[in-house]
Amino acid sequence: MATKPSHGSGHGPASEPQAHESVSEQIIVRSGSPLEGSVRVAGAKNSALKLMAATLLAEGAYRLSNMPRIVDVDLMAELLRAVGCSVERDPKDTSALRIDVPARITPVAPYDIVERFRASVVLLGPMLARCGEATVALPGGDDFGPRPVDMHVKGLAELGARVDVVHGNIEASAPQLLGARVVLEFPSVGATENLLMAAVAAKGRTVIDNAAREPEILDLCRFLQGMGARVSGVGASTLVIDGSGTTELLQSTDHAVVPDRIVAATYLAALGVASGEILVEGARYDHMELLCAKLTEMGMIIIGEPEGIRAVAPRRLDSVDCSTLPYPGIATDCKPFLVTMLATASGVGIVTENLFPGRFRYVDELRRMGADIRTDAHHAVVRGVDRLSGAPVRAHDIRAGAALAVAGLGAEGPTVISDAHHVRRGYENLVGDLASLGADIRIGQADSDRPGE
Ligand code: UD1
Repeated sequence: MATKPSHGSGHGPASEPQAHESVSEQIIVRSGSPLEGSVRVAGAKNSALKLMAATLLAEGAYRLSNMPRIVDVDLMAELLRAVGCSVERDPKDTSALRIDVPARITPVAPYDIVERFRASVVLLGPMLARCGEATVALPGGDDFGPRPVDMHVKGLAELGARVDVVHGNIEASAPQLLGARVVLEFPSVGATENLLMAAVAAKGRTVIDNAAREPEILDLCRFLQGMGARVSGVGASTLVIDGSGTTELLQSTDHAVVPDRIVAATYLAALGVASGEILVEGARYDHMELLCAKLTEMGMIIIGEPEGIRAVAPRRLDSVDCSTLPYPGIATDCKPFLVTMLATASGVGIVTENLFPGRFRYVDELRRMGADIRTDAHHAVVRGVDRLSGAPVRAHDIRAGAALAVAGLGAEGPTVISDAHHVRRGYENLVGDLASLGADIRIGQADSDRPGE
């Protein structure tokens, strides 16, 4: 149960991005005793990054608290600095970020930072709103397949912007954004966020129909309200924004980031595999009700308490079928955890992906561990085996890395996860947190990369 401090584990100041470092970092995990104790979740990555982008809407000093100490926040800080802001962690409380947005910003998000993380596309809306123009390098594809931005582009055009893709950049301009009714083809999280942030500066009323309803969108709406924006329908699939035609009336504000439901789900999955009883402090049951219902169906006991989610996993889990859907459905980001839990559950479960069809790469890694999983287009058919067997595996992205760590808790022999630096993009301290619950997990360094990849 040795836990080495994970150097560069995301606890550094926002001024020290480390995504490109420690490429040989490994997580080494073995099955051990049941998990016990409590673990706290930080603020949600997928809200934190958007709130940072939203600060560009108005000059002033912002304080964002409950900010996760993760590499993606460091990367967004780098982008904000490139635009002209100053971004610092509060030295007395490193979970708080202070952002100073100057009177003039340079509305350009350069490719060398954008290519390192895809959330940067949400800078488009606020920069366009503030400056009347914005250039954001087009994010490329990733291990989930392509990330189209057509709904972002179409929606901004409906608000009166001219949007072109030239030389690998999205270039948007609008001397004056105008309120309009925008119907999203699909409740895209990113498109809803970009449109929300643009609409606060549009002249007149914008209605976003079929808007995404994720808790992180609510958090952004609350933040914008705190800045003085008039947003209603918060939490519903029709958002109404009454824009004043300018960002001049908005002001800076302080805000605490909503807790990370995906990190909370990771710890619940770890419990499901390792068994035991834990309290996930800060987790919001009401943000993950359908997932909790699935876990209950699998045999876990899940209780929403004022201080978090208490969970008990008393025995081998039962298999279930499940599908990922936009909120309030089960989040696509939770799918690797469900597949991992099903890998050693009793029976057969079918997991259907409805958002990112290509998101099954970690399945090959689970198969290396003896999992019996067949994938077919959007579906994964998982036949639970009695026990996985530890193996060298590779983390292709944040959630895949975390899911493999969870899988290792239920495997015979050591599981060595390479490219584990991906995990720090979205987890403050996955290894330390699981170790604190009694898991046999630690950070290691690879002597060399696995050949052939
Ligand atoms: C966000 C989250 C991601 C999560 C996803 C869905 C962040 C940083 N990332 O990603 O972790 O998995 O929500 O909950 O917050 N689409 C289009 N055209 C568009 C936009 C999206 O076709 O213009 C498609 C996507 O390919 C995907 C689906 O819509 O199939 C959902 O994507 P979206 O909700 O936009 O996800 P992101 O905002 O990229």
